[in-house]
Amino acid sequence: MNRLYNALQLKRLYQLKQLGFRYVPLVEKRPSTEPSLPHDLKALEQIVSQCQLCGLSKTRTKTVFGEGNPYTDIMFVGEGPGAQEDATGRPFVGRAGELLTKMIENVLEVPRESVYIANIVKCRPPKNRVPTPEEAYTCIPYLKKQIELVQPHIIVALGATAYHYLTGDKTGITKVRGELIDMGSYQLIPTYHPSYLLRNPSAKKEVYQDLLKIKRLLCEN
Ligand code: URA
Repeated sequence: MNRLYNALQLKRLYQLKQLGFRYVPLVEKRPSTEPSLPHDLKALEQIVSQCQLCGLSKTRTKTVFGEGNPYTDIMFVGEGPGAQEDATGRPFVGRAGELLTKMIENVLEVPRESVYIANIVKCRPPKNRVPTPEEAYTCIPYLKKQIELVQPHIIVALGATAYHYLTGDKTGITKVRGELIDMGSYQLIPTYHPSYLLRNPSAKKEVYQDLLKIKRLLCEN
């Protein structure tokens, strides 16, 4: 009986395929925020610290929730914690973090503590690999809730992973960097990730231009 049912379902799927329907992974269709998450950053951080929803929880030392001014106008979103972040539980504290801090303090001319910094995934991917779609989609409700609570006017997506998972768009970062994207409740501006800049210092001039644009936007707000 089960086999007959499965065969009929398969036939129906082939018919739909012939009509032009395409398979879209269900995981991408999840609601942007989980209704059950608390409406409070401290309580949310507590939940994240105990999260075991994906495999990254098995290899992490500490979760890296994010930090900064919850009343800020501007949020920076990276990809995921590296070794130093995993050891300390703080975002962007390694070499890439030092560069990000300089970008914020020397170009935007605001203290690092005055902005909010978070990542797409809250646990370190082993060997600093890019998070898998499953890991990213499992974790992103936490970030979406942080965005909802902090209510920044501007979000800077640091690198392709942050851009991709915040927008759903797979266009390469080189094409989109520096563009201002209206996300409804905030403006998104993608730029290169500081780790990329450490490997490709010549790209710093483009990021400098992006930061000047952000600085102008902050002044308008
Ligand atoms: N790279 C990231 O994307 N995030 C961090 O927190 C550190 C390095």
